[in-house]
Amino acid sequence: MSRPLVSFHDLRPGADDLAADVLAGFSRAQKSIPPKYFYDAEGSRLFDAITRLPEYYPTRTETALLREYADEIAQKAGTGHLLVEPGSGSCTKARILFEGLQPCAYVPMDIAGDHLHVAAQEVAVDFPWLEVHATCIDFTRLMTLPPDTPEGRRLAFFPGSSIGNFDPDAAVGFLGMIADMVGPGGQLLIGVDLKKDKAVLEAAYDDARGVTAAFNLNLLTRINRELGADFDLAQWRHKALYNEAQGRIEMHLVSRVAQLVSLQGRTFRFAAGETIHTENSYKYSVAEFRELASRAGFATDTVWVDADRLFSLHLLQTGNAHAT
Ligand SMILES: C[S@@+](CC[C@H](N)C(=O)[O-])C[C@H]1O[C@@H](n2cnc3c(N)ncnc32)[C@H](O)[C@@H]1O
Repeated sequence: MSRPLVSFHDLRPGADDLAADVLAGFSRAQKSIPPKYFYDAEGSRLFDAITRLPEYYPTRTETALLREYADEIAQKAGTGHLLVEPGSGSCTKARILFEGLQPCAYVPMDIAGDHLHVAAQEVAVDFPWLEVHATCIDFTRLMTLPPDTPEGRRLAFFPGSSIGNFDPDAAVGFLGMIADMVGPGGQLLIGVDLKKDKAVLEAAYDDARGVTAAFNLNLLTRINRELGADFDLAQWRHKALYNEAQGRIEMHLVSRVAQLVSLQGRTFRFAAGETIHTENSYKYSVAEFRELASRAGFATDTVWVDADRLFSLHLLQTGNAHAT
């Protein structure tokens, strides 16, 4: 058997970033922590568990769309691209596309370095014909490709509705970074969760088994471990709500009592009921997302939606971009 081709590039953010971002977030009137810090080893494991929950329709719906339309996606997007996946997690969804797209190389990018390393190795073993260039990077800051990636037309893959974690203006900025990365003639296949019934949305982010609650609370465990804070987890609870006016799910950690927390030599006061805002997940109609993508310079090629209109998959291309 030929040896799998995998390389690993480590541009992971420094340890000081978490401290700086948490201290900045706790200095605001609405205290907050950026969602990228969910993904330590335990957070990555809990996220995978969330994707298997009965309430969490996005993963199974998007996966079914990818399976159903894999051939059509390859037909429309073409083959032989450099396939770049920011926030690749366990690389589960890209595997559905490899046979059809026959990429010249796959570049999974993730902030969770150890999880990425394992996932990329597994891809390389299961697809020995595929070059894999894994990159540990904070994609909100940088989207540079490793120096040894082959040249070629670029197709970005951004599933999981992770675009919903950005406020709409920031989403346009981020899509613009992807447009620059794929360049003229480049494409983006992106999964976007659709607006729907509030009860369905809230259940997806507050499951009966409490896995999403554990995922949210794990942020405090991480901050205790990495920043020497003294959060008492028993004094915090998970909350998810659909903010209809903003079209977004919000996740918060709610302080059950009035309490003081020390962190890096500073003390923070939390009132009973006060929250730390940990994540937004914006939902879009197909038309709203097309408009957002066009603001970033992407034209829509094709949109696929499941029969229950839960989730959408958009194939986009940059500007005057159809490679001939
Ligand atoms: C919601 S999960 C989605 C995983 C996978 N793409 C899917 O659709 O199932 C988000 C992934 O993006 C990664 N991530 C989050 N913020 C990131 C950032 N700023 N830079 C790089 N990766 C990030 C996380 O580590 C995690 O693997």
